[in-house]
Amino acid sequence: MSLPSVNKTESSEYKIKKNVVGKIRELTESFPEKNSAMIPAMHLIQDEFGWLPDQAIRELADILKVAPNKIYGVASFYSMFNLKPVGKYHIQVCRNVSCQLMGAKNVIEHLSKKLNIQPGETTEDNKYSISQVECLGSCGTAPVMMINDKYYENLTEQKVDEIIKTLQ
Ligand code: FES
Repeated sequence: MSLPSVNKTESSEYKIKKNVVGKIRELTESFPEKNSAMIPAMHLIQDEFGWLPDQAIRELADILKVAPNKIYGVASFYSMFNLKPVGKYHIQVCRNVSCQLMGAKNVIEHLSKKLNIQPGETTEDNKYSISQVECLGSCGTAPVMMINDKYYENLTEQKVDEIIKTLQ
């Protein structure tokens, strides 16, 4: 995988805060191998920026003594990590089998129409992003979506409208 280039503005804008670096270093101490701290450290960085900027990934790679590509590999495997900025409300709709059977396609189409964006996009005001993700582990209450860290289950178009209203 080729890495994105780093420009100077991004370098300073996305430098990991000192206290977060401190927490990451503490994490590395609690594992026999430094790179075992990778996923919790990525969560800390995402908590700070809302996504994983290239500069922060390189900085983390340096702390963990791994190639940045390793971190990119993990970040691109797990849908919980964002490799580009997302809106204030990141709506992740499950597209796996149970949810598909129970109407996930309608939920996604309804959201796209309502927010005027397609999956993978963010509204111009940076308020909403929509993503399609694999199983969210709540197949019995399909169709399911997550908005930031909160689950919404047994979705219908009407329920989606009510949920979005609460986010205004
Ligand atoms: S298939 Fe959607 S939560 Fe499992």
